[in-house]
Amino acid sequence: MRTLTELAPEASQQAPSLRAETGSGAAGQSRIHESAVKHVTGRAAYIDDIPCPADTLHLALGLSPVAHGRLTRLDLEKVKAAPGVVDVITIVDVPGHTDIGPVFPGDPLFVDDEISYVGQVIFAVAAESYQAARRAVTLAVVEIDEQPASLDPVAAAERGDFVRPTHHHQSGDWEQALRDATYVLEGEQFVGGQEHFYLEGQACLVTPSEDEGVVIHTSNQHPSETQKLVAEVLDIPFHAVTAEMRRMGGGFGGKETQASPWACIAALVARRTGRAAKLRLPRAEDMRATGKRHPFHNRYRLGIDDQGVLVGGEITVIGDCGYSPDLSDAVVDRAMFHSDNAYSLGQARVTGHRAKTHTASNTAFRGFGGPQGVMIIEQVMDDIARHIGEDPLTVRKRNLYRPGRDVTHYGQRVEQLQLLHDLIAELEQSSDYWARRQAISDFNRTSPIIKKGLALTPVKFGISFTVQHLNQAGALLHVYTDGSVMINHGGTEMGQGLHTKVCQVVARELGLDIERVRITATRTDKVPNTSPTAASSGADLNGQAAKDAAAKLRERLFDFAAEHYRLDRDGMRLEGGALVAGQGEAERRLPWAELVQAAYLGRVSLSEKGFYATPLIHYDRNTGKGRPFYYYAHGAAVSEVEVDTLSGEYRVSRVDILHDVGDSLNPAIDIGQIEGAFIQGMGWMTSEELKWNDAGRLVSDGPATYKIPAFGDLPPVMNVKLLEGHPNSQASIYRSKAVGEPPFMLGISVWSALRDALASLADYRVAPQLDTPATPERVLMVAQALRDAQGAA
Ligand code: MTE
Ligand code: HPA
Ligand code: MOS
Repeated sequence: MRTLTELAPEASQQAPSLRAETGSGAAGQSRIHESAVKHVTGRAAYIDDIPCPADTLHLALGLSPVAHGRLTRLDLEKVKAAPGVVDVITIVDVPGHTDIGPVFPGDPLFVDDEISYVGQVIFAVAAESYQAARRAVTLAVVEIDEQPASLDPVAAAERGDFVRPTHHHQSGDWEQALRDATYVLEGEQFVGGQEHFYLEGQACLVTPSEDEGVVIHTSNQHPSETQKLVAEVLDIPFHAVTAEMRRMGGGFGGKETQASPWACIAALVARRTGRAAKLRLPRAEDMRATGKRHPFHNRYRLGIDDQGVLVGGEITVIGDCGYSPDLSDAVVDRAMFHSDNAYSLGQARVTGHRAKTHTASNTAFRGFGGPQGVMIIEQVMDDIARHIGEDPLTVRKRNLYRPGRDVTHYGQRVEQLQLLHDLIAELEQSSDYWARRQAISDFNRTSPIIKKGLALTPVKFGISFTVQHLNQAGALLHVYTDGSVMINHGGTEMGQGLHTKVCQVVARELGLDIERVRITATRTDKVPNTSPTAASSGADLNGQAAKDAAAKLRERLFDFAAEHYRLDRDGMRLEGGALVAGQGEAERRLPWAELVQAAYLGRVSLSEKGFYATPLIHYDRNTGKGRPFYYYAHGAAVSEVEVDTLSGEYRVSRVDILHDVGDSLNPAIDIGQIEGAFIQGMGWMTSEELKWNDAGRLVSDGPATYKIPAFGDLPPVMNVKLLEGHPNSQASIYRSKAVGEPPFMLGISVWSALRDALASLADYRVAPQLDTPATPERVLMVAQALRDAQGAA
């Protein structure tokens, strides 16, 4: 292991120029996160930092201790009588909707009689203090007629126990392809789930408003949906509810739908008591009560030719959805859309099942099912390589989309066909792949216990919500008479730098220094009917909406200036903090603040709204065909691992990443996203293990038992570069590309490198079965099995 001081020089070498702040900070330039200083000095306010009104009530929840059963008795008399308790609520106290399913029904706000998972909310207590509420919860008398819990998604799928119907993609005659193939390979895998482990847990503070409504402060990726659900639960109009969100301490998908229940419960208390209500889940309850990344069981039967190129066949993915639909239809769709990753499947059928189990309802998590789909085909690539005796990188390259093989199994044509070929070629060079491959083979031949592994895996990730109507955004721009600018939009900030990027867009459109542009909290009464900040599309959608608003305002100011100052309207521009008209000798410059002041006196509106809807996209669920994605974002990573095959312990010694963000909106932030996503993906593949006991209770419910990557797990060498010279082929915001989720899948290269190291135990002739997370225990068991098989042979 390296020491801190050894690591430091390398860390500081990383792209120093990108860390620098230069120029106006407009879109396209590196610029620190708008809250960076506040983040590191503790001045950035999260929900728990908001000063509560003096009479605030604190909430605690009574959660189901069993996974499946019927509630036969609920006696809350002692709870109500406990010191400090002001209100206790259950399902019967809900005046409006009792089901808060976000897309399809199935999520009761409180247990009615059927219990579906450990951690399901049965009742809520509001008390003068948090401690009083917590103590009172324990006084409840709860009797449950416990029934066997269904915890095996494969068995559920076999029984046809689904939360949503099965869906297929089909291109060509997959059965004929299997008959025509030189070889037919088969395999399966288990891909584990993942806890979001946002540092700020689920939290909200709700205050009653003058009339029948509420104001909700919520750590939330989807304020508009929470507004809607709270209104429906309270049975009041949407306009009586305002949701506000300044920033989250991480969301990662876990606050797309699953931030709403807490706001609904707190809102009920606030309306019933006329007092503010605060609800913040303790970590263990947060982990029990909320859904996670879907675990998947995947299978394939695919034919290849003698070169190892896929000719077709079938892939089946089974998502473990938990007890209700939540977002699972779209999550399993995305797993299906990405079961090809970067490779043409040939003539294939892809089937996606949505299995129902008695666990919390699994939900969005960075990649949104995409990573689980990518996993199956990346296993296939390694399996083919072992079968035909070629390097896995050679097999991957042969299978990439290319001319003549450029249409996905769901009918979308891959537009930037050459990009991934170029990107991989560049990374192959810069990471020194082939020399290291040779060195590793030599090392492994002479090292009996420590085995090294190397893998390059690519990603091609579809950008757009696969639910078409979500691909829209709005923005509201105000210019004040001192020339300062306020931009509001529907996106939420969760650390990803969205607000920084949107400020940069406005600064660029108005020719201003970014210091003059500010964003405050996202609020449903400023920009209405917003989509969740998800699908990596925050900057794409809200950036375009902000640009639209800024461009409209700019044109209005040009009209005003042309008339008021008698300037030439043609060629007028905003740059360097001034309006510029005319060329050369005739050039006139008017400082921005002066222009704005004059426009105000001239009674010109200094406020504008913007709107954007992504063009071109469509998907027909009946035929399983369409163009669900506006474009694809790409990348590739090379990971090297060292495995101790006697203990199963391993470390990631080096990572090289080359990633496609088109023309970056902010290279420094994009590199930060890539680093974070890679490490989070690596954690998913390696150390983050969710464990439920046989009764369906999550036992890995805190940081002591659930291991996210720590500082010491970071690869000592990690080179991250942005691909240059490939602007987006579609007219996205300044030809940039979304970055939030795609690099998460680069973490898969660590898993593939582990398989590579293990395969060396069988002279690279066997593709070891390695389920995920590939914990040291799993790695050890595979190593032993390979050794035993070698010994027997
Ligand atoms: N980065 C940070 N720091 N914190 C987060 O919660 N969420 C990720 C990604 N990057 C996340 C993050 C997820 S799941 C998504 S969909 C995108 O950010 C959402 O933001 P964007 O669309 O603005 O990129
Ligand atoms: N990605 C993320 N969140 C979503 C999506 C998606 O494709 N669809 C609905 N919510
Ligand atoms: Mo991200 S999983 O789309 O919130």
